[in-house]
Amino acid sequence: MDARGTEGTERAERTTRVDIGAFGIRPARIVHVELLGLVRLPAHGGARAPKAPKSSVSTKEIQMTTPRKVAVIIGSLRKDSLSRKLAHAVIAMAPASLKCEVVEIGQLPLFNQDYEADPPTIVRDFKARLESMSSVLFVTPEYNRSVPGVLKNALDIGSRPHGKSSWNGRPAAIISVSPGAIGAFGANHHLRQSLVFLDMPTMGQPEAYIGNAAGLFDEKGSLVNDTTRGFLQKFVDAFALWNERNATR
Ligand SMILES: Cc1cc2nc3c(=O)[nH]c(=O)nc-3n(C[C@H](O)[C@H](O)[C@H](O)COP(=O)(O)O)c2cc1C
Repeated sequence: MDARGTEGTERAERTTRVDIGAFGIRPARIVHVELLGLVRLPAHGGARAPKAPKSSVSTKEIQMTTPRKVAVIIGSLRKDSLSRKLAHAVIAMAPASLKCEVVEIGQLPLFNQDYEADPPTIVRDFKARLESMSSVLFVTPEYNRSVPGVLKNALDIGSRPHGKSSWNGRPAAIISVSPGAIGAFGANHHLRQSLVFLDMPTMGQPEAYIGNAAGLFDEKGSLVNDTTRGFLQKFVDAFALWNERNATR
């Protein structure tokens, strides 16, 4: 199995060519299954993944004069957060068509509808920053089989006042992260549910449930697992293409 994801992808400062066939859903799914620890692949790697629907786009040129700005929202405030380490690994491998920046959410107040008509500066700044972005990448742990409260709070703050949501229409992708075996599946899908209502077209494939995450990094916090690195490269390349299809700014 080769899930390294560099095949078929060229990088250039202004032009990124993404061959969707190269991130083929099949290897991504195999990685996903391995991460979940649900299926043991035979030594010869002969496991069959479910057939993914064929994309209507086989190859697409991404030609941009300026990269698309991606807000990276991390659902953990913890200093040694695995989600944060993973987010930084993904940012470092993003293609040139994406300019990823972490938008912090830990300083936001708890949402209170009493203040939504005249929100504090910190909330105004947060909303303005989101509105300057083309798309959003969420990297989150799971708390009690759902999204951490701090992330839900950020979603709620960005969504108000009614009719002035700062998330509106921005393409999104989700990476859920856990030291456990099931890769924060519950958080991933609860978040997906909110993003439907927020009208954020959310990438369906590849899915990213990063399980057993504590073993993926060295003591400096660098991602050291090549299979996961290869999978994440495919994921972020797919997200670049998802941006081209769905971003309006
Ligand atoms: C309040 C709380 C609830 C948790 N619930 C879950 C859970 O439902 N599923 C899970 O996989 N891990 C759960 N965990 C463990 C987290 O996955 C673990 O602490 C993880 O490292 C948090 O992500 P971070 O490293 O990015 O901070 C929970 C942790 C906390 C503090």
